[in-house]
Amino acid sequence: MGWPYRKLVRPLLFQQDAEHAHNFALKQLARASRSKFACGVIGKFFSAPELPVEVFGLKFSNPIGLAAGMDKHAAAVPAWEKLGFGFSELGGVTWHAQSGNPAPRMFRAVAEDAIVNRMGFNNPGTEALAQKLAEWKKIGRWPDHPVGINLGKSKITPLAEAAEDYANSFRVLRDLADFFVVNVSSPNTPDLRQLQDKAALDEILAAIQEINRGRDGVPPSQIFDSGTPTRRPSRPPILVKVAPDLSFEALDEILGLVAPRNIAGIVATNTTISRPQTNDISAQKIYSEAGGLSGRPLRARSTEMIRHLHQQTRGKLPIIGVGGIFDADDAWEKIIAGASLLQIYTGLVYEGPGITKKIVAGLVQRLEIAGMKHLHEAVGLAN
Ligand SMILES: Cc1cc2nc3c(=O)[nH]c(=O)nc-3n(C[C@H](O)[C@H](O)[C@H](O)COP(=O)(O)O)c2cc1C
Repeated sequence: MGWPYRKLVRPLLFQQDAEHAHNFALKQLARASRSKFACGVIGKFFSAPELPVEVFGLKFSNPIGLAAGMDKHAAAVPAWEKLGFGFSELGGVTWHAQSGNPAPRMFRAVAEDAIVNRMGFNNPGTEALAQKLAEWKKIGRWPDHPVGINLGKSKITPLAEAAEDYANSFRVLRDLADFFVVNVSSPNTPDLRQLQDKAALDEILAAIQEINRGRDGVPPSQIFDSGTPTRRPSRPPILVKVAPDLSFEALDEILGLVAPRNIAGIVATNTTISRPQTNDISAQKIYSEAGGLSGRPLRARSTEMIRHLHQQTRGKLPIIGVGGIFDADDAWEKIIAGASLLQIYTGLVYEGPGITKKIVAGLVQRLEIAGMKHLHEAVGLAN
């Protein structure tokens, strides 16, 4: 749908304010999600070729996932798989429901294929999200692909009580998803990124893993060292999402927590507070807005972070690469830099729902050309 989306659908959507367009598109997907027939039609057009991957004990039919922030209300859970995604990450969700920052709070820099947002974790809160997820399961519309949940900190919770806030959410949600991402990297909750500091993050992960250990009586397993897992892990893997603005030294500090806190992987990266140079006047105006920048200008920095993480961990720690992926070249760049899985947000906004199928097909082709059978053979190849 690349060309029809860019020439027909996108101009209509882009006439609206960015958040309105987002809400409109999500509403259509939410409606379709309730209908088996509609989901079948979507699947016919957009389902991606198989490109299986196994990471942290979970099986993925392809490595391209939906990034956090797109479906904060779990409104369209069945639809993401039909749009070709090999997995989806719902949320960010916070323990307390919150409305986020005042609008306008999402801006497109079209000339740069970028978005600036300062949504501020607008979300229905953990309890409401849990209810929504349980509802999808109850009506038999739960997708086959792995579903993750992005956990954030409630704005009203002081930093000193952050661990409890994250743990409260995890306690309620742990049996409703396949993996969890501790988000300490959103630039839009005051001081949240201070939680990337080793001691603060350690406290959050300790609280979460204590609950995780209590989920069943099975002793802890080395989730990412277990060779080729064939079934779902008995406990959901816990990942950490990092900001692209972190120094490599700060990133290495976080890696120091991988073994003691059983971190199953790193999601690299969230949006950036930095701004690139641009001669485009309208993009300059958008870049002057406060918030996190995503899309094409983030691509190189995000790949740099992935490369560093892969090198530092000698390829032992799974990395989900996210930031500025628009086509198979961008995806391949991140895979050979060390990402086992990838996610997309801004690329979906600019390229439309055909993006996943196109990227997966492109990756299949690249593997064939390289004479490789499995995607994992390409992970970190450039390092
Ligand atoms: C409007 C918007 C909301 C987002 N909300 C979240 C969020 O709640 N939690 C999170 O970890 N990342 C959030 N992100 C970041 C994305 O998940 C992703 O890391 C980032 O946009 C880079 O990927 P991209 O260049 O493909 O967009 C958000 C991004 C956008 C544009």
